[in-house]
Formats: sequence, C-alpha cells, structure tokens
Amino acid sequence: MLTRQNYPNLIPSNQITPEGVYKERRELMKLAASAVVLAGTPLFSALSYEREKESRSLELTSYDQITTYNNFYEFSTDKEAPSKLAKHFKPRAWTLRIEGEVQKKVTFDIDQLLKLIPSEERIYRFRCVEGWSMVVPWVGIPLASVLKYVGLTSKSKYVEFETLFDPKQFPAQGQSFGSIAFPYREGLRIDEAMNPLTLLAVGLYGKELLPQNGAPIRLVVPWKYGFKSIKSIVSITLKEKQTRSTWNEMAPKEYGFFANVNPTVDHPRWSQARERPLGHFFKQDTLMFNGYGKEVASLYKGVDLKKFY
Ligand code: MTE
Repeated sequence: MLTRQNYPNLIPSNQITPEGVYKERRELMKLAASAVVLAGTPLFSALSYEREKESRSLELTSYDQITTYNNFYEFSTDKEAPSKLAKHFKPRAWTLRIEGEVQKKVTFDIDQLLKLIPSEERIYRFRCVEGWSMVVPWVGIPLASVLKYVGLTSKSKYVEFETLFDPKQFPAQGQSFGSIAFPYREGLRIDEAMNPLTLLAVGLYGKELLPQNGAPIRLVVPWKYGFKSIKSIVSITLKEKQTRSTWNEMAPKEYGFFANVNPTVDHPRWSQARERPLGHFFKQDTLMFNGYGKEVASLYKGVDLKKFY
C-alpha cells in the first residue's frame, strides 16, 4: 500500500482506498468525473458530469485484470506473461532524466520527485488500439507540474519519452528476432504534454505501480490509444522537432503519431468503432477522444483527424 514514506505528498493519503471500497463507490462514480482529483487541485467533475449522464458509468476494471492482462513487449508479446516475468524487476533505485530544451536539466531520483510534486488520484478510461478498454484509478503526478519545475525554453515544442533499456531485466530486449525496436519511445506535442489530463502514473488502486504496469513511472494520456502510454520511463527530452514514436516508426500506416482515440477512423485491419471492456462479454461504443473531447478537442481545431490519426 501507499504509505507516507512512499508518497509523502500524496493528496490525500487517507482518500486512497482499497479495491473493495472503490467498488462500493460505484454508484457515486456514475456521477463522478472522468478525471477526478480527490480533494485538492483541478476538478474536472463539473466538465464531465453532463457527459457521464449522457454516456455511461465509469465502472472500475478489477485490480486483478489491470495487473494480469498487459501489453509490455520488453517482457513478452503474450498478455499474460508480463505479470509472471516481471516478478524480479527492480523499480528502485530509479532515476528519471529531464533534458533537452529545458531551463535546467535535472536527474531525479524517483522518490525525490514524489516528495517534490504531490501525487493525485485520477480515474480514467483507457482504450487500447487493439480494441479492449478498461477504467483505472491511477495515482500520479501531472506531467505539466514536472515540466513547469524544470522550465521550458522557447524551442520546446515536443516531448520524447524513453523506456529503460536493460536486457537483464527485460528478456525480450536481449532477443534479436521478432518483437519491436527497443528502447520503446513515445512522444507528445507540448500542448498535449501540458494538458491537465496528462499524467505520470506511479500507482493504481492506491498501491504502488507493479512492474507489469510500468513501474516505477509511466505515462497516461487518456484520450489517446494505450500505446502512447509508455512504461518504465528513464528519460524525458524536450525537443524542437517532432519526436520519435516506436509504433509509428514501425508501421506508420497503422499507428499515427497522434493516436487520438477516434471511433470514426478505423485501423487498416479492424474497426475502431467499438471496444470490449476487460471483464465484459459485450462490446460498447468507443467515444471520440475516449470521452475527453471537452477537455482536449480544442487542441486539434482545424486538424484533419483522418489524415493525422
Ligand atoms: N510501454 C513499453 N515500454 N512497452 C510496451 O510494450 N505497450 C503499450 C503501453 N506502453 C508498451 C508500453 C501498449 S500497446 C498498451 S495498450 C499499454 O502500455 C498497456 O498498459 P497496461 O499493460 O498497463 O494495460
């Protein structure tokens, strides 16, 4: 469990509740925000309440499902394998470098970073490009707070993230066949990175993030397909030019740099109109921007989303 020692600045530590209690709160969640910060700073609930009424409830995916059905190619392409192969992964000691077009380059020890910036709880929908989805109560720090801390230069237009490269801990990184190119990289435009929804997650369900979910720190961008949410990040680099994106480089016709959840733009090999929530048999409609249009649609004003998918 999270303790004051682990996350001394968690807001608020007594609001971090076990899974059972979350389940009892389901009725409340039907009215709750798509992005909730329990106590404290920004509340998106007013924005999303109307939409939740119109659409559907935010029924949390179980802890068991979130932590045993994973995409983490550094371990394996098999979704059940990461939770088994990650048992000996070491998320501490861990450093996160922030470099490139910043006022001050910093290498944080992860625990030092969590003392500096208060953690918050956010309940977000998560939609994988493959067509499954979940609802996750993340604990994390806003990426914008980290970027404001280091200070941007006038040239910082894009943000690039990189996953740890360590074949001793990530078995698939040591294999020369199949899989994808490592280290895994992802990128955001600076306005996407600064959006209040964009989170660096360090926990879920009030517990520290498990290695299979990207411990100790991973990105969560709830209006984009899940592959943008890069795991086990070791560096964040601010750049002037558009940054790299592993899946986009590997198969640009199938995976765009933007990767905004969009039910009207199909993947070349399957429809994106519907999704199957983990733990459910029946599919449901996929929402534009995964239901976060009010918060993010303005970022793409005038952009042809069929061309820039
Ligand atoms: N990050 C790294 N480093 N390696 C990966 O294979 N998979 C991505 C994303 N981040 C991936 C990654 C994909 S495709 C998805 S859908 C999500 O992680 C899955 O996150 P989860 O396993 O926590 O559900």
